[in-house]
Amino acid sequence: MFMLNKRLNIAVINQFLQNTAEESKMSFLNQLEKRRSIYALGKNVPVDQATIESTIKQAVRLSPSSFNSQTSRVVTLYGASHTQFWNIVLETLRKIVPADAFENTEAKINSFSAGFGTALFFEDQDVVKGLQEQFPLYADNFPVWSEHSTGIAQFAAWTALSEINVGASLQHYNPIVDEEVAQTYDIPANWKLRAQLVFGSIEAPAGEKTFIDDAVRFKSFN
Ligand SMILES: Cc1cc2nc3c(=O)[nH]c(=O)nc-3n(C[C@H](O)[C@H](O)[C@H](O)COP(=O)(O)O)c2cc1C
Repeated sequence: MFMLNKRLNIAVINQFLQNTAEESKMSFLNQLEKRRSIYALGKNVPVDQATIESTIKQAVRLSPSSFNSQTSRVVTLYGASHTQFWNIVLETLRKIVPADAFENTEAKINSFSAGFGTALFFEDQDVVKGLQEQFPLYADNFPVWSEHSTGIAQFAAWTALSEINVGASLQHYNPIVDEEVAQTYDIPANWKLRAQLVFGSIEAPAGEKTFIDDAVRFKSFN
């Protein structure tokens, strides 16, 4: 009787573990599905700044990097600093964009400024150089892996923010703003700006998204 019970218990536990694994797998895919590029951003975020800050930090901290080198650096701007950053972008673009196209540019930058904050993603080039010296065999790969790592960290932060119902879009105004950003926010010379994740409340849902045929992008073999 005892043996039968024990076997039954193990079967129940196994079933439970399998169900839990299935559910967590689904919920992760659901989270991936939920993350979208949100362009209509506002300041009415459903969580406080500290929650956003810790979410970004955790997402970046938990992201993998080659040789666990942890090359990603993040500066998160809120309030006046966030507005100031988008003003730097706007004034930099004003010098480059033809006057007749500037109205659209300004509207776009204002839509980012309307958000709650911006996370600037950098990669520490000193760490990349150090790895190249330490492991000459892989020297060519470290800059590539650093780019992979920042992409993973950006994606993790983006997805984690969407989980707490904070919308975001990924922008790239580097390298044109790099110098002024470095001066304004006292960024070390070895930190290279790679992307800007602008976030805020979701004021309108993401647009429709289409997918190419699986046959074009996937192959599998037994
Ligand atoms: C590496 C990368 C670079 C991107 N750069 C920009 C960008 O500079 N500006 C922008 O508005 N969106 C940018 N995006 C967002 C993509 O256009 C967007 O992710 C894609 O259209 C799919 O839409 P979704 O994010 O809603 O799933 C970028 C996305 C990735 C992954």
